[in-house]
Amino acid sequence: MIKLLKNLGKKECIFAIICLSLVIVQVWLELKMPDYMSEITVLVQTEGSKMQEILKNGGYMLLCAFGSLISAIIVGFFASKIAATFSMKVRKKLFTKVENLAINEIKKFSTSSLITRTTNDITQIQMVIAMGLQVSIRAPITAVWAVTKILHKNWQWSALTGIGVLVLISVIAILMVIVIPRFKIVQKLIDKINGVTRENLTGIRVVRAFNAEKYQENKFEEVNNKLTNQQLFNQKVFSVLSPTMYLVMYFLTLSIYFVGAYMIKDAGMADKIGLFGDMVVFSSYGMQVIMSFLMIAMILMMLPRAQVSAGRINEVLDTEISIKDGNVNSNLTNEKGTVEFKNVSFKYPDGEEYVLKDISFKANKGETVAFIGSTGSGKSTLINLIPRFYDVTDGEILVDGVNVKDYTQSFLRNKIGYISQRAVIFNDTVNANIAYRRKWKRKNFK
Ligand SMILES: Nc1ncnc2c1ncn2[C@@H]1O[C@H](COP(=O)(O)OP(=O)(O)O)[C@@H](O)[C@H]1O
Ligand SMILES: [Mg+2]
Repeated sequence: MIKLLKNLGKKECIFAIICLSLVIVQVWLELKMPDYMSEITVLVQTEGSKMQEILKNGGYMLLCAFGSLISAIIVGFFASKIAATFSMKVRKKLFTKVENLAINEIKKFSTSSLITRTTNDITQIQMVIAMGLQVSIRAPITAVWAVTKILHKNWQWSALTGIGVLVLISVIAILMVIVIPRFKIVQKLIDKINGVTRENLTGIRVVRAFNAEKYQENKFEEVNNKLTNQQLFNQKVFSVLSPTMYLVMYFLTLSIYFVGAYMIKDAGMADKIGLFGDMVVFSSYGMQVIMSFLMIAMILMMLPRAQVSAGRINEVLDTEISIKDGNVNSNLTNEKGTVEFKNVSFKYPDGEEYVLKDISFKANKGETVAFIGSTGSGKSTLINLIPRFYDVTDGEILVDGVNVKDYTQSFLRNKIGYISQRAVIFNDTVNANIAYRRKWKRKNFK
């Protein structure tokens, strides 16, 4: 996760600092409000106090609330901006990486998983960044600030708040232990859903020709049900959280007032009003403390899921690309238009048997060379070795007298005209498909 966060640029860091400062302002304003509240309480209780004084304090409270609202909006704006920029950068990095992966490396991850990782997994992290910037800084500050404000006031009330926090933390801890291991499963199931969907779409003709719709549906339903159940379970577990929070909050208020009532009863006449004011303030700080602990908990719960996603993204980004670029990007020899195989043997990275064994031949410029053989004899495999879709296991292939491994891949592939067995049509006009690459080149290098 931290490693991925390094993708954030200087600009985003500055935005983050702005967020942080504004959050501090926000917390300060919010914690200021109970002070005014307490003054108003005292004013109301004191005989002969002026209406104007109360209005003045009320006005300050309104100003605080408005200021806090404004800074919350600005923080939200910057946080979203940072998170979205982060996503964009990582998505681009991932896309470029996948473009350069060797075919067997793509196969190892599976296409559907790579799609999930480029979309859903990045979104998970984006959400945590956006939430995190707004809450993870704010909550601890509020908690610490509010705690320091209430601690010296009254030990009974502080103890009550402490118990409330403790109850909340225990509930959250239990929930986390239950839910965290399931996040990994959820991401894997999303891969699977993508996989089945993709397979069904690419194979739709076969599915229809064999009347296999029902079979496919069952396949889909199985994964779909698994995912739904898994997510339902997580949601159910989380649904405990909100009632617990309200229970703790209201119980806390209730007990503060309960304890307070006795204290006021026992207090001397002069202290009664002050104590009452304190009580109002205290219960509102107590709320703040509980709320901020809850927010910390929410982040702590989102974090593991984002962590899982970050791991999946890093797995792709850290993959060592097995087909390495050479550095020859000009013609080194006088040969032109030649392809030579020298004792080439090849087996697929995931295969046991050699598909090609000790093949040697040379094709010169102007010659037409054909490979004849039964299905599965290795004709396509042999051709795919020339543009380095795979690298030979033994031996070497020379194009224009130079080993294909020594060329840069773009220079090598520029030398080769390739018509693939299966036509791929890109989502574009007929013109653009026929002039694929040529058109793109014209647009970019004009
Ligand atoms: N991507 C792959 N991974 C593993 N084995 C493969 C792969 N592609 C083809 N093969 C195997 O390699 C052999 C040769 O396949 P291929 O070159 O496609 O034959 P041809 O084009 O002559 O019909 C076959 O046994 C096939 O099963
Ligand atoms: Mg073939």
